[in-house]
Amino acid sequence: MMDFMEAWRVSEKDFPHNGSAAEKLAFCVRYAVLAPSVYNSQPWHFSIDGNILYLFADRRHALPVIDPDDREQNIACGAALYNLRLAIAHFGYDETTELLPDPAQDSLLAKVKLGNKREGAPDEALDTLFRVIPKRHSNKGAFADKTVPEDVLAKLQAAAASEGAWLHICPPAERKVIVGMVAEADRIQASNKHFRRELAGWVDPRRNLSGDGMPNLGLSYNEVVKSLNPSLARRFTVDNQTATDEQLELNSPVLAVLGSKAGGVLERLRAGQGLMRVLLQAEVSGLAVSALNQPCEVPELRLVMHDEISHQGRAHMILRIGYGGKPVYTPRRALEDVLDFDGKAVTKTKKAANDGGSGLFGRVKGLFRK
Ligand SMILES: Cc1cc2nc3c(=O)[nH]c(=O)nc-3n(C[C@H](O)[C@H](O)[C@H](O)COP(=O)(O)O)c2cc1C
Repeated sequence: MMDFMEAWRVSEKDFPHNGSAAEKLAFCVRYAVLAPSVYNSQPWHFSIDGNILYLFADRRHALPVIDPDDREQNIACGAALYNLRLAIAHFGYDETTELLPDPAQDSLLAKVKLGNKREGAPDEALDTLFRVIPKRHSNKGAFADKTVPEDVLAKLQAAAASEGAWLHICPPAERKVIVGMVAEADRIQASNKHFRRELAGWVDPRRNLSGDGMPNLGLSYNEVVKSLNPSLARRFTVDNQTATDEQLELNSPVLAVLGSKAGGVLERLRAGQGLMRVLLQAEVSGLAVSALNQPCEVPELRLVMHDEISHQGRAHMILRIGYGGKPVYTPRRALEDVLDFDGKAVTKTKKAANDGGSGLFGRVKGLFRK
């Protein structure tokens, strides 16, 4: 059986320094796919044509019940894009990225052009972020009872701001409100059978065959569909145990909200890049992070969240941040499943695309099986 954890063992030593631009971009995709996504749905697809990479939303991995507007899908793709760009910078190349390059193609989220080899040493701060990409995991355990210093939080906020997003640290008065919203959102989602069925599909142990989802939580499809408490799969304190509301509040050293200045796909892609940078900065600072996003997925709650927190804009993610925790490895789809070398098809007619791709995939495929 395919080892879907292999993705985490990516080694920069395997970068094809003497390879083609397409091979270099393909190698950087190995870092892009380590980004987080809701239910580990990995809703991205990469298509390469020479020195150009196209990032698409993979509609096969959409979540119509919890994410009917593809907002969280856009965030995940933005996070993957950030990793890709960091990798390109780390290996010493310039790049130019265009977000939403073709309004006629809804699913086309970004176009990244690999530039020339840069002279001189890479940016040290960005390089530090790059190095922790394969080390970052969402926390599924309890946080240590230890305060996160203000200057460390300020670095996380700066990380979000540098990508055009914001990170609001909830003051004590807002913590109860946020936890209350999580409880309310859990109740609303749990009472929706479509929500339960969708979630059940992503935790089904048979996801082990496709390299996505969260098959290792030990939950069966039937259990989740019938369960009145599907929050089981979405809030953690100790060793994959579900947390009570009170535990959530007590065991969240920091509760923060990540958002964008405005709505729309462009802003969501920026928020996704900001999220990734925050998560990597957290990893560099020795912090663990878990998402707690239920209130952002229930429209009536998301709308009022801006009245409840002292920050204007669009809220996208609720994050619990602290020391300690328990990182858990999640699988990643095979590279062949998320990447093609048929990028020319993006700009040509469907017929031309069907007439044959570049054939490059066959040639470089071996490169990924190290
Ligand atoms: C937009 C978004 C929303 C998420 N919401 C939740 C959530 O509500 N609860 C949770 O436990 N994890 C949440 N996650 C984390 C994913 O479950 C996690 O990224 C995925 O399982 C892959 O694991 P990894 O982050 O360790 O690579 C979210 C991630 C993203 C990008």
